[in-house]
Amino acid sequence: MAKDYKKLLPSLDMSRLPRHVGIIMDGNGRWAKQHNRPRLYGHSAGAKSIRQVVELGVELKLQYLTFYAFSTENWSRPEDEVRGLLKLLRERLIKEIPELNQQNIYVQFIGSEIHLEPEYLAEIRAVAAKTHQNTGMVVNIAFNYGGRLEIIEAIKKLKPEDIASLTPDNFGHYLWTKEQPDPDLIIRSSGEKRLSNFLLWQAAYSEIYVTETLWPDFDKIEMIKALQEFQSRNRRYGGLN
Ligand code: FPP
Repeated sequence: MAKDYKKLLPSLDMSRLPRHVGIIMDGNGRWAKQHNRPRLYGHSAGAKSIRQVVELGVELKLQYLTFYAFSTENWSRPEDEVRGLLKLLRERLIKEIPELNQQNIYVQFIGSEIHLEPEYLAEIRAVAAKTHQNTGMVVNIAFNYGGRLEIIEAIKKLKPEDIASLTPDNFGHYLWTKEQPDPDLIIRSSGEKRLSNFLLWQAAYSEIYVTETLWPDFDKIEMIKALQEFQSRNRRYGGLN
């Protein structure tokens, strides 16, 4: 059963895979409700979906994956859910380090420092830094992330002499994603059709794929379906065919 996704792999054109895929993981709460469990149970199940997608990413040699784990707006959730999410993130990360290193995966956080306890931030950064010798796939965890804030923070980094030479191409260097390519594909689970402040600058020409599947049910087969759909699109970047 778990290996069924292998049958779908030949349907993918390996020469036209996206370099960077961003994922808005939505539907954990609804999934938990369907299973009569607390919301945090849904988030925990959602963390397992991340693992599935990362494993497939390694198998397909994708270069960048970005997961929207916690937004700057998520602080408005009930305190126990927020605390549970922060705890889950730290625990999963610590647990996954050996596997991440074995798979040569570089993990980094992109996001703001505001509202975060300095000790917590220092700890998760130190754990992620254990992967920074790795040269394979890059996994960005968008954590305490907001696209508008990222753009404002980028503007604040500019020196007066940088302004005249600013272009749509070089502005990206001031963003948290720095030299990374823009996402070719953004996936959103659970049916909502919006970006919710995710990679706003970088998503200018991203293909957007929305699936009704709730994030904890998102697996390798679902990821392959998203990649198939991506490969069926005609990307024109504002030009003609
Ligand atoms: C959205 O579902 C999901 C989140 C706000 C959190 C996503 C975080 C994880 C899956 C765990 C992070 C762990 C690591 C290791 C990166 P929702 O709660 O908005 O669902 P709903 O719309 O159904 O209520």
